[in-house]
Amino acid sequence: MSNQESCTAAPSAGVASWRQRAFAWALAHLNAKYEKFVASYKLKLLGDLSGCVLEIGPGTGANLRYLPKDRIQWIGVEPTPFMYQYLEKEAARLGMQIEVRNGIADELPVPDSSADAVVCTLVLCCVKDQRRSIQEILRVLKPGGKLALLST
Ligand SMILES: C[S@@+](CC[C@H](N)C(=O)[O-])C[C@H]1O[C@@H](n2cnc3c(N)ncnc32)[C@H](O)[C@@H]1O
Repeated sequence: MSNQESCTAAPSAGVASWRQRAFAWALAHLNAKYEKFVASYKLKLLGDLSGCVLEIGPGTGANLRYLPKDRIQWIGVEPTPFMYQYLEKEAARLGMQIEVRNGIADELPVPDSSADAVVCTLVLCCVKDQRRSIQEILRVLKPGGKLALLST
């Protein structure tokens, strides 16, 4: 399976839809070892954010636990609807208010200069056009805003 396929994109019928559902389940249930490994890095990366935090490709919400929920307004842009139930469950567990928008990194459904921080972990390897995605991130970040990026 290629990176593009394993990360998924827009929902579709048949095998693709089954794959997306399975990917969401796997991300929610089989990632504990990786999350334990990166926990201290993620805490440093995300623990001090504040204001409007836009997370691109949040998946099942593995990053939510590191964010200071009382200091942020969280918006997630996620193209795979099978992720939403896990995101909502994790937010409820943490007592966090979240807003999930369907969309992709290449065309973020948020206004210019509206985010104090953009969070993007293990996502840029999945997008079709990385240059365009970076341009979009720069467009939506406020001047002086932070980009929290994690890649493998
Ligand atoms: C490997 S998962 C990472 C999930 C989460 N960020 C994490 O670190 O656990 C990749 C995520 O990016 C999403 N994704 C795939 N293509 C995307 C795109 N073009 N724009 C935004 N998100 C995308 C997938 O649906 C999935 O939720």
